Amino acid sequence: MQIDGRPYRTIWVDPEDGWSVRIIDQTQLPWTLAIARLTTLAEAAHAIRAMLVRGAPLIGATAAYGLCLALRADPGTDAMGRAAATLAATRPTAVNLRWALDRMTALLGDVAVSERVALAYREAAAIAEEDIARNQAMGRHGAELIAAVARDHPGRAVNVLTHCNAGWLATVDWGTATAPIYVAHAAGIAVHVWVDETRPRNQGASLTAFELGKAGIAHTVIADNAGGHLMQHGQVDLAIVGADRVTRTGDVANKIGTYLKALAAKDTGVPFWVAVPSSTIDWTIADGIASIPIEERSEAEVATLTGRGPDGAVTTIRVIPEGSAAANPAFDVTPARLVSGLITERGRCAASEAGLAGLFPGRG
Ligand code: MRU
Repeated sequence: MQIDGRPYRTIWVDPEDGWSVRIIDQTQLPWTLAIARLTTLAEAAHAIRAMLVRGAPLIGATAAYGLCLALRADPGTDAMGRAAATLAATRPTAVNLRWALDRMTALLGDVAVSERVALAYREAAAIAEEDIARNQAMGRHGAELIAAVARDHPGRAVNVLTHCNAGWLATVDWGTATAPIYVAHAAGIAVHVWVDETRPRNQGASLTAFELGKAGIAHTVIADNAGGHLMQHGQVDLAIVGADRVTRTGDVANKIGTYLKALAAKDTGVPFWVAVPSSTIDWTIADGIASIPIEERSEAEVATLTGRGPDGAVTTIRVIPEGSAAANPAFDVTPARLVSGLITERGRCAASEAGLAGLFPGRG
């Protein structure tokens, strides 16, 4: 995607040295476009844990490149296992992390130590390229939903609600939930996006609004609590969100607050779609509420807000009383029964074991 006329991905190998890894530091958006350089396993693990990079597919790609950096220091089998364990421990909910590390270590475990570094970089690059291709395909399948609403309501924009940032910043490029919006926009369909601010870290307000603005797509940031009201008043045609882990039965773990949006959508009859690449499907589990580990993050993220003051300085302020406790579960699980359907790179399906098995035979 483009920022001010220049194409970017969220992660790439530095073309100057051919090995260090460049990322957009998302903790600094939307105020500053800062490019960070990762040179070690520790730096890659920190980038994931501290959310310089975030979003399930991008976490997976960063873990793959983190393993490359680790192998440069020590390509031995024991060291590779320790590096994979370090990366796997950075964030628990998005299954793309485990998926990418399993893919890398399975491949690299079978080759001579001397060949590992070069092969690791090739595989990490393949993971990144495949992510883009999957997202573009999801964009095509999801855009059909937007186009259908546009046909039924000529003369006005299609109103899509989204939560968190499941945009290109959450992936290597294109995004999951936003890919259909980009495809529809490119096809000349008028789209307006309701952007949930997504407390506590405000990925919607900071990141989704930033990337939609740069793409020239009409959008309005709303408080997280506003979505149900807008749905009751016919102002949301469909909701499209991303996912951090989807069970083989179609339960969806996504950013905290997704479940409440799905409940409101069910009550008001608004279609609630989840864009999910196959790398986000956890085929090993069936019950999302019982089995998906939910990350608990620092209470400081709830107790504070960060923004730009009138003097231009970016400042963090405390918004709850000193002495009050805060809790910060970072994800929730939306049961499959509340999901209208899944948008995958292979097409759309019901959020169910049969639906997913139909698109991915033999995986369940
Ligand atoms: O905590 P984050 O910002 O990594 O959470 C991201 C989300 O929940 C996204 O909605 C999800 O990863 C979908 S990604 C395209």
